[in-house]
Amino acid sequence: MDKISILHGDCLKLMNIIEPESVDLIVTDPPYNLSKNYGNNGDNLNHNDYIDFSRRWLAEAKRVLKPTGTIYVFMGVRYISYIYVMMEQELGLHFNSWITWTYTQGIGKTKGFSPRHDDILMFTKNNRFKYNLDPIRVPQKYYRSVNNMRGANPGNVWEFSHVHYCQANRQNHPTQKPEALFERMILASSDEDDIVLDPFCGSGTSLRVCQQLNRRGIGMEINEDYVAMTEARISQPFVGFDSIDERMERVPNDLNDEDIRREYINNHIRWFLKNHPDRIEKFLVAVNKKYSKKAAKPHFADDLHGKLTHTSRNHEQLPRQ
Ligand SMILES: C[S@@+](CC[C@H](N)C(=O)[O-])C[C@H]1O[C@@H](n2cnc3c(N)ncnc32)[C@H](O)[C@@H]1O
Repeated sequence: MDKISILHGDCLKLMNIIEPESVDLIVTDPPYNLSKNYGNNGDNLNHNDYIDFSRRWLAEAKRVLKPTGTIYVFMGVRYISYIYVMMEQELGLHFNSWITWTYTQGIGKTKGFSPRHDDILMFTKNNRFKYNLDPIRVPQKYYRSVNNMRGANPGNVWEFSHVHYCQANRQNHPTQKPEALFERMILASSDEDDIVLDPFCGSGTSLRVCQQLNRRGIGMEINEDYVAMTEARISQPFVGFDSIDERMERVPNDLNDEDIRREYINNHIRWFLKNHPDRIEKFLVAVNKKYSKKAAKPHFADDLHGKLTHTSRNHEQLPRQ
């Protein structure tokens, strides 16, 4: 199997060819039935047809998921309660988390409250499932010897901006999601070389993340233009994911001891900026700004300066402790 495969067609048919209990993780962002233009009228079904469609693809998802597997499903408010009931009551999946993805921009309502979140349901197939907390921790606000400086659990409210039209990685797709959302789910719920399935892969966000995190990604997409878009996207050089949780860039307060600070900063880059080499320089500038009076010129700034031109996945270039 290729490390990354994109299959063109209807996922209801394509999932049939996947062996039962062979997929480690499903991360997917299906159409929300909000009349988005995906090049067909598939996002404009009547209520019963949409429920039936959801029931059918979710049943296939359960069939292909390993007993230790996890499924994350993006959904808008209109249908999330139906999807929740299907997953828990009809399919017998185990509820784990209701994640809220919140953003600052979106449509403005003149009557009612402007929507500023989508949600992601995380269910597992059983009670014994894979979960890696360390790779998704977020930096602490303060240096304290009693704090776990390896970082805190990111919580279930995730704040990321939409991929803006002027960003280099913006694709011509109406609902492209930020890569950092998929980065967190894939790091938490799979290991390197695991099989990750996205039956509705759109512009290829999930596959791009799988490629950079060394997972075996299988994407399915009904619109052939989006399949071509994904192929082009995954052939681009990697300079860092297109989005990041802003907490990953924060410099803890009270890091006053120079030796501790030096060790922490090197660790911070390895732990929190591993997949964001393009953010290291900004982080070091913030360190220097915050602590310049304490140490005129931290050595790590010079050490790192020449190492920031990543064009491919190359974690080895980051400084080791
Ligand atoms: C919400 S978008 C996914 C966006 C994606 N997460 C991204 O970041 O680009 C849903 C995608 O599912 C595709 N789709 C809709 N029905 C499908 C089906 N039956 N099988 C496969 N793909 C389908 C649509 O064409 C659309 O690109």
